[in-house]
Amino acid sequence: ALLRSPPGGVRDLERMFTPGQARAAAYKVAVLGAAGGIGQPLSLLIKMSPLVSDLHLYDIANVKGVVADLSHCNTPAKVAAFTGAGELAAALKDVDVVVIPAGVPRKPGMTRDDLFNINAGIVRTLIEAVADNCPNAMINIISNPVNSTVPIAAEVLKAKGVYDPSKLFGVTTLDVVRANTFVAEKKNLRLIDVDVPVIGGHAGITILPLLSKTRPTVDFTPEEIEELTVRIQNAGTEVVEAKAGAGSATLSMAYAAARFAESCMRALDGDPDVYECAYVQSEVTELPFFATRVKLGKKGLEAIVSGDLTGLTDYEQNALEALKSELKGSIEKGVSFASNGA
Ligand code: NAD
Ligand code: LMR
Repeated sequence: ALLRSPPGGVRDLERMFTPGQARAAAYKVAVLGAAGGIGQPLSLLIKMSPLVSDLHLYDIANVKGVVADLSHCNTPAKVAAFTGAGELAAALKDVDVVVIPAGVPRKPGMTRDDLFNINAGIVRTLIEAVADNCPNAMINIISNPVNSTVPIAAEVLKAKGVYDPSKLFGVTTLDVVRANTFVAEKKNLRLIDVDVPVIGGHAGITILPLLSKTRPTVDFTPEEIEELTVRIQNAGTEVVEAKAGAGSATLSMAYAAARFAESCMRALDGDPDVYECAYVQSEVTELPFFATRVKLGKKGLEAIVSGDLTGLTDYEQNALEALKSELKGSIEKGVSFASNGA
């Protein structure tokens, strides 16, 4: 198969591309920010899923052309366009999975936190509409800074009285996708066999790949661990610099987000073996939000795989302690924005 999952670990898009395995199209998905660099290829990949009955594409502009184009693909999902705030409620009515890549991307020299001033307000507005129109949906937040936008979403949902922590996810799948790719390249492994859990958050040193937990078991030298960890942490910046002002990762992100959305739908569909890393409300550390592997089920997050945090190497334990203050600050910044509007 073109895309295959590691045995017993997280899975990916294999079934989308495997003829003969199509199940009944059943789920409604909305993409908010669908005309953007991520939104367009992401919508294409979601349109290919046999699990999708309806695909609602929302953006503030340019979404009609994307829908006209996508709607010619002969896959079951019905695609519909929703443009501007006046059509947001209709885009969200009764959807099962909401994927949010709306917002501005980085340019060279910027941190993800530099996007906060614009993207925090965008996410707040969109989540208010999610709360009003599809409070039971599984929410996949891509908009940066994820470390803050997820806490913002949680506060908005709480204020609306509809917060279900098992339905709110910051999408960190791209960190796992990158870790798997870089480890397989470095160690000459078959890519489809490799699975590296990535924990913490989604910015700089808060991205912590647990290379000691790589499956299958791999031996790394201390130099390899340092080199791979730093590359995975800076991989977003690697793309931002290569694009030289034209934005950040869009295609690999679309791939990763489509995989996460597909995992959400497979879980809703009753698949008992769906695991992904995601940034969620968590008690595995003293921080209120933290990315780990999670088990997904019919009601959303079913369990946090806390075992990944035991038996860490000294390198990983030190990196875990070092990331906490930055992640704490980003969480508090999001909570304070949502509570005070500032
Ligand atoms: P982009 O500028 O190409 O597209 C963003 C889209 O959002 C545009 O079409 C824009 O019209 C739309 N938008 C803006 N305000 C909106 C609103 N209020 N409602 C609905 N849509 C709105 O950017 P992109 O490259 O697609 O990146 C989008 C976001 O995803 C950025 O914040 C980026 O940092 C983030 N990102 C996250 C990850 C991750 O791993 N979580 C990876 C890559 C990018
Ligand atoms: C990424 O990791 O590629 C995204 O978070 C986008 C960025 O700004 O790096």
